[in-house]
Amino acid sequence: AQLASCASAWDGPAEDLPRAIRACTRCALHCHATQAVPGEGPADADLMVVGEQPGDLEDLSGRPFVGPAGQMFDSLAAEAGLDRDAAFVTNAVKHFKFVARGKRRIHQRPNTSEIHHCRWWLDAEIAQVRPRLILAMGATAAQSLTGNGTAILSRRGRIETGPNDLPVLITLHPSYLLRTPDAAERARATAQFRQDLTTAAGIIA
Ligand code: URA
Repeated sequence: AQLASCASAWDGPAEDLPRAIRACTRCALHCHATQAVPGEGPADADLMVVGEQPGDLEDLSGRPFVGPAGQMFDSLAAEAGLDRDAAFVTNAVKHFKFVARGKRRIHQRPNTSEIHHCRWWLDAEIAQVRPRLILAMGATAAQSLTGNGTAILSRRGRIETGPNDLPVLITLHPSYLLRTPDAAERARATAQFRQDLTTAAGIIA
């Protein structure tokens, strides 16, 4: 079911929102992450791009989509005529969830409770930016925004309904393009991702 916005929405001054997100202790993810990573971009962006959660580099730098997935997004978005700097880029979950394996920190998918807790912040970002279109990249973003976290491959390219009846264009997560070992599947997924970015560019043009 669609996750309802929280009635007691965050109502502080706009400029305080990133700081409030950084101070968040609403779920246990803050105990291990370096810092929460708020969204970034123009406060009046037409397009909001929502990923899953910060990765290793985002956790260390405090900025969204600066690692390999972000670089993949940036270059394919530019090819599709989407300027990342004109979009508000954020995540469904603001803290990095991982398990330590030696010196490496291995990404863990956020669970439903973590996604629900963090929707509070995503709602606050949506209320502030009031985008015309939200691009949900991957199952976690889709689950947070539409209440449906089921298979993305069969939903991508579709526009679903998100918070405040905003259109949510479902697409793959750029990490999927980086992780997929099979070259043919990777090429197919990359073409689909490109197509969805082109759709997004067309909607906000
Ligand atoms: N993956 C995400 O979903 N978000 C980021 O910020 C980085 C990687």
